[in-house]
Amino acid sequence: MFTFTLSCFRCQAAHDPTVLQTVCTSCGMPLRVDYPLAQIKLAPADLAGRPASLWRYREVLPIAPADAVSLVEGWTPLVPVGEHVWIKDESRNPTGSFKARGLALAVSMARALGARALCAPSAGNAAGALAAYGAAAGLPVVVTMPEDTPRAFSQECEHYGAQVHLLPGTIADCGKWLREHGPKHAFDVSTLKEPYRIEGKKTMAYELYEQLDGKLPDVILYPTGGGTGLVGMWKAFDEMQALGWPMGKTRPRLVSVQAAGCAPVVRGFDAGDEVTRPWENATTQAYGLRVPSPIGGFLCLRALRETKGTAVAVPEHEIAPAAQRISAKTGIDLCPEGGAAWAAFERLRASGFIEDGERVVIFNTGTGLKYR
Ligand SMILES: Cc1ncc(COP(=O)(O)O)c(C=O)c1O
Repeated sequence: MFTFTLSCFRCQAAHDPTVLQTVCTSCGMPLRVDYPLAQIKLAPADLAGRPASLWRYREVLPIAPADAVSLVEGWTPLVPVGEHVWIKDESRNPTGSFKARGLALAVSMARALGARALCAPSAGNAAGALAAYGAAAGLPVVVTMPEDTPRAFSQECEHYGAQVHLLPGTIADCGKWLREHGPKHAFDVSTLKEPYRIEGKKTMAYELYEQLDGKLPDVILYPTGGGTGLVGMWKAFDEMQALGWPMGKTRPRLVSVQAAGCAPVVRGFDAGDEVTRPWENATTQAYGLRVPSPIGGFLCLRALRETKGTAVAVPEHEIAPAAQRISAKTGIDLCPEGGAAWAAFERLRASGFIEDGERVVIFNTGTGLKYR
């Protein structure tokens, strides 16, 4: 049925791709999808004329478009906002954030493998996307989110018919509550706890390749919570190379942007650690970045080091003003996470990590509308 293999990102243990499953049964870490890339014939020129959605990369996705649950996600604009500077505007996705990419794949695979209901803890945007894709799939959805998440996020989920539980604490507490009290029959599609969200997110890197005519940027700034997008793009660059796409001499330097009030990846990076440690008393109004103990933290650290990237913690007082200032300047509706990414860009320019003339892509991961 499927042409890909599944194995653990950490211990490499093989897993059966025809089974509905979450993490590695040997070590509890995330599972990785691999395609027989040496046999796949896919060149950049083959993509011309394909659908304006992430399904244009069907050869490197786990499920055929005909079997997928799709709201036509991906292929978002790469907006030039300065000399050699672009914003990849993910707010143009269904439900207004890049979470649509991951959930399109996760929900498609879960339905194909027999899931009867879906659940996930969320900082807000993932819940909205899960609720919408669950509705499109005809599957009931239960989501949990921190009780201080702006109301627009929970209202959106209810609008799509999902059951919402607002709980004290962070996304980590919401995940714990679901494991202990959530519906036992619902399949958990938490970030990196099932293998396919990353496959949807990785398409952001394929799009950058196409949108920049094969000349990948020098630096990519990505607001990092769970890190699916960061790890997904890192994986995608390897895939493109294995497919034989011309890649230039160096890979884009990946930059994890976090909020100073919750920066486990930055702390792990600065300390030279191989794994992230849980962040105590996580707090930030860039809610998507309030992920105190990302299960894929070790993968984020690997991606940053392998690409000679870095990690930046943006002080809380810089986040909202940066989003506001850049929205007013560009007309793109930056969410706080996108504002943080822009503030990190300015810091890295000032520090010299980004040199004049380098080509930079900044991710605006979602719309700012739901935060107001
Ligand atoms: C707007 C926004 N940006 C960034 C993130 C972090 O995403 P990831 O978990 O892929 O690191 C989130 C996650 O909730 C989000 O909603």
